[in-house]
Amino acid sequence: MAKEGAETTEETEYMIDRNAGIETMVVESPGNAKEMRAVILTGFGGLNKLRVTKKAMPEPQDGEVKIRVKACGLNFLDLMVRQGNIENPPKPPLVPGFECCGIVESVGENTEGFEIGDRVMAFVNYNAWAEVVCTPLDYVYKMPDEMTFAEAAAFSLNFVAAYMMLFEVANLREGMSVLVHSAGGGVGQAVAQLCSTVPNITVFGIASCFKHAAIKDSVTHLFDRNVDYIQEVKKISPEGVDIVLDCLCGDNTGKGLSLLKPLGTYILYGASNMVTGETKSFFSFAKSWWQVEKVNPIKLYEENKVIAGFSLLNLLFKQGRCSLVKSVMDKLLCLYEQKKIRPVVDSLWALEEVKEAMQRIHDRGNVGKLILDIEKSPTPLMANDSTETSEAGEEEEEQEGDNDSKERMPFIH
Ligand SMILES: NC(=O)c1ccc[n+]([C@@H]2O[C@H](COP(=O)([O-])OP(=O)(O)OC[C@H]3O[C@@H](n4cnc5c(N)ncnc54)[C@H](OP(=O)(O)O)[C@@H]3O)[C@@H](O)[C@H]2O)c1
Repeated sequence: MAKEGAETTEETEYMIDRNAGIETMVVESPGNAKEMRAVILTGFGGLNKLRVTKKAMPEPQDGEVKIRVKACGLNFLDLMVRQGNIENPPKPPLVPGFECCGIVESVGENTEGFEIGDRVMAFVNYNAWAEVVCTPLDYVYKMPDEMTFAEAAAFSLNFVAAYMMLFEVANLREGMSVLVHSAGGGVGQAVAQLCSTVPNITVFGIASCFKHAAIKDSVTHLFDRNVDYIQEVKKISPEGVDIVLDCLCGDNTGKGLSLLKPLGTYILYGASNMVTGETKSFFSFAKSWWQVEKVNPIKLYEENKVIAGFSLLNLLFKQGRCSLVKSVMDKLLCLYEQKKIRPVVDSLWALEEVKEAMQRIHDRGNVGKLILDIEKSPTPLMANDSTETSEAGEEEEEQEGDNDSKERMPFIH
């Protein structure tokens, strides 16, 4: 097994270097480092597909900034990527992660507006979970002085997605009502906070019971994810709600549509129900797909309902709406500076603890966002249990599903 691990790691690094083009040229960075640490996903599957390894230092191209990363966001989407549970995923090996923050270390040509030393946060089309990231300046935003790196890593994806769904897609206005699933999670808490910036909004939140004490003040009504939420909402609001934000999919699509008031908007923005175990389940995928209400536009017309979909990553990286996202980010940073919103950070993890961090989301343990803190050292307990590989890749392959027996560290606020 150890030999197999070594071969895999060698192939991984070779393939990444070959695919990355510029990264094959190992260039001296200002700090003289030619290599950096990064999390690598060696193939789609369980937690054992993640490891930390060394990778050639990237250098910024025309229009790119090079960021010395301080912290990265870990999202539910990253679990789905790891499992290969997304449409058209890139071929592994790959460096996961879609957002990070840090300090600009150097800039390419044509990068007006950014200088070495700027504190920034950025979206990245993969490759965020590394000590150094190069990304086009269209996806880079300056951090407010008072924002910490942990907050910045928790900010971009959650708040931009929440804001665009509420204000760009559903046109949230005074007096409306919103239903949100996974209310204790990263996006859920961003939705709750943004709703509180508009007068008289009723938020119906759904979350695992043990989170209720922690998040009860952020929403108006809170239900356990195992109850019949349609009945519970209708007891309070027989007409239903104005906006349903559905990140679960499956039979929640039909339920969400049935809860809409006339002129209400249902938005599908995730498919968490497809994740039922550590690896991709074709059964869960098929079940979720099969259970989705097949929508007839004539019915929507008769019932005066709006159905929408939202994917921030597609909007940014496939549909080129960077300037729209930038304008949203400007508004969000104003709200942050006015102290009207503030990202909720669940816990900080070292890169080498990425498996344990992901397991925490699988276990539904998080309240707010998980952060990979580049400067954090793994705890000694984790170190024995870590994913770190030597460059020779002498890591034993683990059996999938054996993670349940491992001790996990309490999280750190
Ligand atoms: N379309 C977009 O642009 C966009 C952007 C960001 C996120 N998203 C989607 O929004 C959702 C939330 O994302 P997030 O990053 O903020 O994550 P998150 O809500 O922090 O994710 C973790 C929480 O999701 C809930 N959950 C629901 N189904 C689960 C499952 N099968 N396994 C484990 N936990 C499950 C659990 O909370 P409870 O047990 O309390 O329910 C868990 O604590 C995800 O579906 C994600 O894909 C979409």
